[in-house]
Amino acid sequence: MHWRWRDIEPFTGRAAKEVAIEDVERRALILANPAFDGETVTTQNLIAAFTVLEPGDRAVPHRHTAAAIRFSTRADGALTIVNGRRCEMKEGDLVLTPPMCWHGHINESGRRTVWFDAANMPAICALDASFFEPGTRQDERFWEVSDAGSSEYRFPGEAVRKDLQSMPAGPDGAATFRYTRNGGSVMPTLDLFLSRIERPTRRRRATYNAVCLVVSGEGRSQVGEQHFEWSRHDVFTVPHWTWASHEARGAPAQLFIVTDRAIYERLELLREEIQ
Ligand SMILES: [Fe+2]
Repeated sequence: MHWRWRDIEPFTGRAAKEVAIEDVERRALILANPAFDGETVTTQNLIAAFTVLEPGDRAVPHRHTAAAIRFSTRADGALTIVNGRRCEMKEGDLVLTPPMCWHGHINESGRRTVWFDAANMPAICALDASFFEPGTRQDERFWEVSDAGSSEYRFPGEAVRKDLQSMPAGPDGAATFRYTRNGGSVMPTLDLFLSRIERPTRRRRATYNAVCLVVSGEGRSQVGEQHFEWSRHDVFTVPHWTWASHEARGAPAQLFIVTDRAIYERLELLREEIQ
């Protein structure tokens, strides 16, 4: 499935106008894939969304067993507080909210902020292990924290882009940065990547599922029988065991790729082929 940013963007304004942040847990435009019969999932084990905050909005603290991430697309001036750490959300920054970590969001800027979210809620629900604990809207102390220790939860986009710049192409032809902690996947159930597409990639299929956010550039992907012509901030899915290849048009493109690869790796179910 392919969602175009140009189709999504008008809904950010509409959501901001029609939904007060005080009335909801999160103001998020969920990318619900019609292939899943009305279930609010984006692909088999993953859910993705764009979250919208108006100036001054605070999204109430909460925590849950699902692991989640957010990648800043247009969220300069927004902050995510994770376990008492203040994480900035400059363009390209990644913020992790590991299972059962308290987290809330605030927009301290003077304009609307939007970022890309992903979580493994469908996998956790399939395992019947979904727990959710609401926080309180009144606790001022939650927001009054510093950024000391935030590197535990935040990958600055600037540093990642710099690392990616010097990386050689991998076996599929794309240069790929893997966000890691202790040498492994960034969280025990989520594995995240930033790929630079310069030349057409070789076809790949794997047992895991992927949600791809176009960070920069434009191009096309062949995913199974589908052709997706994408541009900046579009999102598309690569379902498990489906051949996929990517091609940039003009300048190189960057894809941020959220996967459940770590689950398959840990369960010894990881299979991958490149043609
Ligand atoms: Fe959350």
